[in-house]
Amino acid sequence: MENDLYAVVGHPISHSKSPRIHSLFAEQTGQALEYTAIQAPLEDFAGTVNTFFNRGGKGLNVTVPFKEEAWNLVEERTPAADAAGAVNTLYRDDQQRLCGDNTDGPGLVRDLTVNHGLDLKDKSILVLGAGGAVRGILAPLIAQQPLRIVVANRTPSKAEKLAGLFAGPLPIRGCGFDEVEDTFDLVINGTSASLQGDLPPLSPGIIGPKTVSYDMMYGPELTPFNRWASDQGAGQVIDGLGMLVEQAAESFARWRGIRPDTSLVMEALRDRVG
Ligand code: ATR
Repeated sequence: MENDLYAVVGHPISHSKSPRIHSLFAEQTGQALEYTAIQAPLEDFAGTVNTFFNRGGKGLNVTVPFKEEAWNLVEERTPAADAAGAVNTLYRDDQQRLCGDNTDGPGLVRDLTVNHGLDLKDKSILVLGAGGAVRGILAPLIAQQPLRIVVANRTPSKAEKLAGLFAGPLPIRGCGFDEVEDTFDLVINGTSASLQGDLPPLSPGIIGPKTVSYDMMYGPELTPFNRWASDQGAGQVIDGLGMLVEQAAESFARWRGIRPDTSLVMEALRDRVG
């Protein structure tokens, strides 16, 4: 029997670690599958997806810049995808309908709570950024029942709008960086500032000796944001490699009905990130 086919679709895609991660998962769980990377033309994401599934492909991961387009394309969405406004996992159901899930937020929460043993209940959380990446993590964070969440962004109106989308019993507020002065239990950097060599201009007071700093970026060395947090005396700094592997494991579980052991894959990748 031929192997089931999976892939990640993005533009660009050559640096994606997903093929390696999923190949390691498949090896470890004894699943017969192949996982490749596809660069879709910017103007033909839908065509690329349809061709892949029509040729018998079983599932796709979707990455930058197509996650919102994937959300629009699908016929069915999981509650996680709905809340995120973005889809990173595609598959077909029994009736051949195209379905979308989003595993980014669950991946982050699993990394925080399972891999790092953090209990987020009654904690104060500061989330930096108000783009697609941050929208994807808010519902799973809220489900952990923290005390409150503040979303701070360079463009304050975007943070206010995002906080408004998730308004409910849990206090959630959107604002600009200069309006944040309290010390938080957990600070999550979801901005892409470091890609431009910047750091969000933040009061050092947001970091205390018990603060955990989580950067959704990752790299072979301390990320610029985590270096800053560490210099301010953060109790712990974590980068986003665990989130990357956990979101992949959530996708794999949805497709194959089996959950891989992520710690082994994390170790294998840790030596090679960059
Ligand atoms: P992503 O999908 O990674 O979230 P995005 O939707 O383009 O990408 O969002 C990027 C986020 O990083 C935004 O919150 C952006 O702030 P603005 O909403 O003000 O644009 C933030 N960001 C990007 N460059 C930044 C910089 N140099 N300093 C601070 N924040 C920055």
